[in-house]
Amino acid sequence: MASVAPPGGSKGVFERMFARKSIAQVQRETQTSELKRTLGKWNLLLLGVGCIIGAGIFVRTGSAAALYAGPAVLLSFVVAGIVCAFAGLCYAELSSTLPVSGSAYTYGYATLGEFVAWIMGALLLLEYGLAASVVAVGWAGYVVSLLADFGLQIPPQLTGPAGYTLMRDGAPVLVDGQTVTTLFNLPAFLICLALAALLVVGVSESAKVNNMIVAIKVSVLVAFIVVGGLIVLANFGDLSTRNWTPFIPPSEGEGKFGVDGIMRAASIVFFAYIGFEAVSTAGQEAKDPKRDMPFGIIGSLVVCTVIYMLVAAIMTLLVPYNQLNVPDPVAVVVDNFGPTWGWLAKIIKVGAIIGLTSVVLVLMYAQTRIFYTMARDGLLPKVFARVHPTLKTPYVNTILVGLITAVAAGFFDINVLGDMTSLGTLAAFAIVCLSVIYLRRSAPELPRGFKVPFYPVLPVLGILSCLYLITTMPGDVLQFFLWYMLASMVIYFIYGMRNSNLQHGEMQDDQPDLPAYPEDAATVGGEPVIKP
Ligand code: ALA
Repeated sequence: MASVAPPGGSKGVFERMFARKSIAQVQRETQTSELKRTLGKWNLLLLGVGCIIGAGIFVRTGSAAALYAGPAVLLSFVVAGIVCAFAGLCYAELSSTLPVSGSAYTYGYATLGEFVAWIMGALLLLEYGLAASVVAVGWAGYVVSLLADFGLQIPPQLTGPAGYTLMRDGAPVLVDGQTVTTLFNLPAFLICLALAALLVVGVSESAKVNNMIVAIKVSVLVAFIVVGGLIVLANFGDLSTRNWTPFIPPSEGEGKFGVDGIMRAASIVFFAYIGFEAVSTAGQEAKDPKRDMPFGIIGSLVVCTVIYMLVAAIMTLLVPYNQLNVPDPVAVVVDNFGPTWGWLAKIIKVGAIIGLTSVVLVLMYAQTRIFYTMARDGLLPKVFARVHPTLKTPYVNTILVGLITAVAAGFFDINVLGDMTSLGTLAAFAIVCLSVIYLRRSAPELPRGFKVPFYPVLPVLGILSCLYLITTMPGDVLQFFLWYMLASMVIYFIYGMRNSNLQHGEMQDDQPDLPAYPEDAATVGGEPVIKP
């Protein structure tokens, strides 16, 4: 009787799960472009600020303050910033030790093995794919609000997730005396599809456009801080008595307000920092990684923390925190600046829309890139790595990412989507911190351009703080996450492990049928960094 050898030959399941790519192999696979050491410390800092600012500050701060922390959301930003600093320094060490341009997925494959790499892939789908949906919903909030300023109303039923009561200023919106139940977020759905279409035809931002967009989104926040700050300074006594007393609202249990609320809000505004890994993984492009990486990482986190705290302070001083659970909190606060500032509200909305569009585009691009790499490794079907013959883009993969993000953005609540993104990212960061410890023990001899200070205290604190923030998440989100991870593990054992090139002794560059991905952009940490 003929026998069929199991995939991976005679190796045991355990051995196959922890099969690792050699560093030489990872290097060979990612040697598509020679990265030059051109980034100075200020470039790194700006790269971070550009990748970080998005729906977190423009949208999620409002609900974090309204539902969980009140004015003390300022402290939540400090907590989330510190957690990100731990993880950021660990990313920096990995990127300077493993001389490859790749995402946390690639680091996982080269350190903790294939199973962890797969888990990382599943987590990155939350960090990038689902984050794109969150930012798309934020984008939709500002679009609906701007259109309303010009007298254009999208039917309210088509401006929110399925089955929710439409709220405004903390109260249900009434149309003809009736509350409105939303069916579907049409603008958020459409922007995901439109941007996926752009990615399919190969549109990517040039460095100049990218810099301009970063300048626009930072400028609108600075304008908000300057004008709002002047108004606040002129009335501080009155405003602080009215809206900041008490600064930490008393706990109502279940993570609402009090110290628990500050921590819960930290896990929400953590979203606002996602993207800083782009700095941490630019190690190969840094002129002097030892000196410049900590500056770039900590610097961009500090700059964003300061911007975020100022924006949050002005928001919660000018508008009672319980009225901030709206899709466009920054614009709602500007409306409170007074009638003379109506024009500024419109400019801020336009700036937010432009800035958020580019964040969705970058996040979707990063997601397609991760799927592409996983398909080239044999962990996903080859169709994910299929490149269009004339457009030279991974079109099937991009269409799928467009559909997933569009459906999530169209039908789900931004708070649930945001929590899932934060949860996935926190778990991914914890694994990155763990990888640093693992690699120090398993390969102490590898040269490291940058080393995490206070080892092992700092990576351990990174792991513990990520896990702690995860525990502050609501039970149903945690439950959904567990099911999601379980399903992804099942897929790994049914598909990934059996088809992995590594298990079959193949390497990516042994496959002539897979055309190279067009390198119109270099990537750092899975994030595209646009070449000039
Ligand atoms: N940090 C990014 C944002 O806030 C993901 O949109």
